[in-house]
Amino acid sequence: MPCVGYDLPEPVYDYHDQRRDEVVAVSDRNPFGLDVNTPNVARIYDYMLGGKDNFAADRKAAEQIVRAFPEAREGVRLNREFLGNAVRHLAGEAGIRQFLDIGAGLPTRDSVHQAAVSVLPEARTVYVDNDPIVCVHGRALLSGVPSAAMVEGDLRSPGEVWAGAVKTGLIDPAEPVAVLLVAVLHFLDDPYAEVAMLRELMAPGSHLVLTHLSSTEERGGDTDKIRKVYAQTASGVVPRGIGKIKEFFGDFEILDSGRFISPGALRRFEILGWAGVGRKG
Ligand SMILES: C[S@@+](CC[C@H](N)C(=O)[O-])C[C@H]1O[C@@H](n2cnc3c(N)ncnc32)[C@H](O)[C@@H]1O
Repeated sequence: MPCVGYDLPEPVYDYHDQRRDEVVAVSDRNPFGLDVNTPNVARIYDYMLGGKDNFAADRKAAEQIVRAFPEAREGVRLNREFLGNAVRHLAGEAGIRQFLDIGAGLPTRDSVHQAAVSVLPEARTVYVDNDPIVCVHGRALLSGVPSAAMVEGDLRSPGEVWAGAVKTGLIDPAEPVAVLLVAVLHFLDDPYAEVAMLRELMAPGSHLVLTHLSSTEERGGDTDKIRKVYAQTASGVVPRGIGKIKEFFGDFEILDSGRFISPGALRRFEILGWAGVGRKG
């Protein structure tokens, strides 16, 4: 498998595998269909966070986003800050012992399971992502961590995601859970039914943590530029107005975001997106 984090040499030749004594085509070295020339949402985000798991096409796309929205770099950092604060609050003060992080992304510093166990040592975390490379990284990072697991799954099949998480033995469906949909829903065209199904499956007392790229009239032109950049990726991006974002909570009580992020940071984050936590009664 190619080593994520480094550009492949140009041009890339088929090579002679000495162990198997045969010529291996480049496509054979690429069991996951890794296409380094097409920007990828997980790797663009990784680059914006200062990570190393990205290729030239991802970096180019990220720079185009930053040119359209210079606040984007700080926005992704604030997104992580909100996520970490929300997890620590839920584990420390809301009695949540299990976390289901869907669209988890490439490993970064301050992972969800680390934030959770920092305040509640018995906290369990299941990460889900539909990107096989993200899952490979996640599994490597979590080997030897019995309280966390990485599951490959697609938010567009919420029943399967839920079943896969329960199957790890780390998520008890009868117990309140925090479902994290952080910076992922804007990659889906119309995920309202899928999120509603997750809300239905969550036990009373559960929480939904959500961040989402927003669309505002003032920055409509800049948002269109971001749309064009993401149109090069497999998923595209769908910024939504705040009213439409809040609809993802259904009848959950939306908590005061001031508990999870300082008012100043929230104001700066809101240039780019919306972040909130809802509680199921
Ligand atoms: C921008 S990253 C966000 C990572 C992390 N949640 C955070 O906010 O720091 C979005 C992640 O969602 C994943 N993703 C996109 N569409 C998905 C889907 N339909 N099902 C599961 N994961 C998805 C991508 O592979 C990527 O890793």
